[in-house]
Amino acid sequence: MTTSAGTSAALGPLPKRVDVYEVGPRDGLQNELRTLPTVDKARLIEALLAAGERRIEVSSFVSPRWIPQLADAEKLLALLPRREGVTFTALVPNVRGLERAVAAGLGEAAVFLSVTEAHSKKNINKSVAEAVQAAKETASGARAAGMRVRCYLSTVWGCPYEGRVPVARVAEVVKRIADLGLYQLSLGDTIGIGTPNQTADIVGEVSKVIPLEQLALHLHDTRGTALANALVGLQLGVTTFDSSIGGLGGCPYAPGAAGNLATEDLVFMLHGMGVETGIDLQKLVEAGELAQELIGRKLSGKYLQAALGEREKQAARARAVAE
Ligand code: HMG
Ligand code: MG
Repeated sequence: MTTSAGTSAALGPLPKRVDVYEVGPRDGLQNELRTLPTVDKARLIEALLAAGERRIEVSSFVSPRWIPQLADAEKLLALLPRREGVTFTALVPNVRGLERAVAAGLGEAAVFLSVTEAHSKKNINKSVAEAVQAAKETASGARAAGMRVRCYLSTVWGCPYEGRVPVARVAEVVKRIADLGLYQLSLGDTIGIGTPNQTADIVGEVSKVIPLEQLALHLHDTRGTALANALVGLQLGVTTFDSSIGGLGGCPYAPGAAGNLATEDLVFMLHGMGVETGIDLQKLVEAGELAQELIGRKLSGKYLQAALGEREKQAARARAVAE
């Protein structure tokens, strides 16, 4: 780990490069009331690719009755261009979902479970023990089909039904999934309730079981602490962060969950600190603008709104000069 050129020594050594894992087309769109046409989803993903994003969670092979917004996963994957160095992933909840994912040519599967019983029941209609079993079966089937497997752990910082979650509980569930053959474990602050001290405790405890290089942070920004939590993760050596374009997102089975950490906000902070991502911030703004246009509302991403506001001011000045 080298200290990056743009980084103050007071922050300690930071990773030189970070992987951004885009979840907007899945975590974002699963929560929109309006279901986007498949071609519009493909346009959004193309815009993310044009910005240099290389890991994109495009949909879910879950029950269409539970998440109708993503019922077109197969159709979408058939439309997407396959490119060298680009990985498309999707949520896969069970063996039925895996069969669909394999038939659709998915390269990487994301299994998921919660650390709290109440969220687990609401989200996938299973107890945590049943969810661990389903994740095991799905992960082993996915690996046998030649896929890499990532796992999400939800409600790590807090649960909408059970409140704050003790770190010991998180560590206990992590131990139960440590033998899943995962290449990555993404820790989810599903309802965006985490604070930086808690993040340090969680990363410290989980990294005793799963190596830091295999951890990702999936931070929702409901209470404005996502970027602060990401910074703590970065300082501790985490090198993968999930984010969504413009801050799209939430969880339909976690009331009050807002969007994910906005990809542009994350990338702006990282680049300012001299941490590389391979992503073009200006093109990300264009993708964010397209996302707003497609879903028909302003998104919460701060960098996106600042950039669009600045562009509007410049255009107004140019019009004033021309008059
Ligand atoms: P269930 O109703 O208990 O399922 O749902 P079941 O196994 O009893 O099956 C019922 C019916 O669904 C059957 O059909 C199955 O074939 C069908 P029927 O015989 O009645 O016609 N079925 C499926 N169809 C298509 N694809 C499948 C599938 N599985 C069963 N994969 C189930 C259980 C897990 C399927 C359901 O609860 C489900 O799909 N839940 C997904 C909910 C979800 O996607 N939540 C949001 C994602 S999690 C999240 O956002 C958090 C995260 O972002 C991280 C964080 O922020 O913390 C990842
Ligand atoms: Mg999420």
